[in-house]
Amino acid sequence: MKKLKLKYNFKKFPYEIINNSNCILSYILDNCGLNLSDCFFICDKIVFHKYIINSKFYKINKDKIILSLVPGKKDHKNFKSLIKIYKALDKNNCPRDINIIAIGGGVIGDIGAFAASTWYRGTNLIHVPTSLMAMIDSSIGGKTAINFQKKINSIGTFYDQNKTICNIGFLKTLPNEDYLSAFSETIKVALLKSPSLLNKLVNNPKKIKTKDPMFLMEIISKSVIIKSKLINDDWRDLNKRMILNFGHTFGHAIEVSVLKSKNSHYYNHGMGVGLGILAALKYSSILFEKNYFFEKKIKMISNFFKTLGLDNKIISKKFKFHNKIDLANKIYSNMLKDKKRSFSGIRLIYLKNNKNAAIDNKPLKKDIMNSILSIID
Ligand SMILES: NC(=O)c1ccc[n+]([C@@H]2O[C@H](COP(=O)([O-])OP(=O)(O)OC[C@H]3O[C@@H](n4cnc5c(N)ncnc54)[C@H](O)[C@@H]3O)[C@@H](O)[C@H]2O)c1
Repeated sequence: MKKLKLKYNFKKFPYEIINNSNCILSYILDNCGLNLSDCFFICDKIVFHKYIINSKFYKINKDKIILSLVPGKKDHKNFKSLIKIYKALDKNNCPRDINIIAIGGGVIGDIGAFAASTWYRGTNLIHVPTSLMAMIDSSIGGKTAINFQKKINSIGTFYDQNKTICNIGFLKTLPNEDYLSAFSETIKVALLKSPSLLNKLVNNPKKIKTKDPMFLMEIISKSVIIKSKLINDDWRDLNKRMILNFGHTFGHAIEVSVLKSKNSHYYNHGMGVGLGILAALKYSSILFEKNYFFEKKIKMISNFFKTLGLDNKIISKKFKFHNKIDLANKIYSNMLKDKKRSFSGIRLIYLKNNKNAAIDNKPLKKDIMNSILSIID
């Protein structure tokens, strides 16, 4: 077990990492000193069936547990799921001092936190992340959201959790592509602030693939500490915190531009961000006139993704684009809709060196297009 106290926004946040295979519900109650009647659980449907429904604790207490099940898929991160949660809160007459406990990946965490931030203007919130993405990123920092009209995270609030309980035992059933693609977020914080974390990641693909528990505990704790330091004095994401968006403007646009079928995206959040990081590194390299430092980083991270079996290029023909330019134009037009844009246009984060990044408020279209084209085949 590892107990961290993350500090940001003038508060301290307990973040506990455990490796537990017992029923998570009884662990949460014991650990937080709560009774079942104090809690409203919002749980990922898959996680519920894999970890909760067959537990002795659930079978004994079934009638006393207030629970709303939501599919952890991004097309369920919407008003419909939120209203389902509000209806359950209402039906069970949940008061303002209810503890909302979000058990799931980033989708459940973001909706659960949104519900907690709005139910009677704010209830207690405990995050129990079950995906790596949620463990290292979405279960800290206070961003809540739902998607709206195909725009990712376009409706949301800032609202802090009281505690995060991170059980790496959940990772054993997380689909491989969700698990591996989440490493893009650790790569991002490592590029921004920690060369030693970056080396640790790229040099240990075996420990990553085998889900080595000690290694994971170290990577998760280092990542959340870096994130909490970056958001410390800019919780509302107005300046310093924005560098955490490194690779995301490209990444979100890639995610929505490349379709598997009419209504479903080919890349998940982590995969989009991974490719976005490569494009953002290329953008940094263009700004610094193809500096060797960036070209070396691009090669290193591209190889790392390849070793994990993740895409480091988008094959335009595979997605029925006539050519590379058509796909690049589509990604560029989706970048223009990015929520972090300013009135004057796209805002891009670029890396300056091993530990510093900055915001470019007036990026040139030709540089953005060249960066996108560098990740398309
Ligand atoms: N609030 C933030 O700061 C922040 C940061 C990063 C990402 N996000 C959001 O997080 C979401 C992505 O999160 P994600 O990658 O966790 O996706 P997700 O929540 O969709 O989970 C991925 C898949 O894994 C399943 N799953 C989760 N845990 C499992 C487990 N232990 N075993 C088996 N299956 C499991 C889910 O049902 C889902 O099918 C996006 O919506 C993104 O916008 C938010």
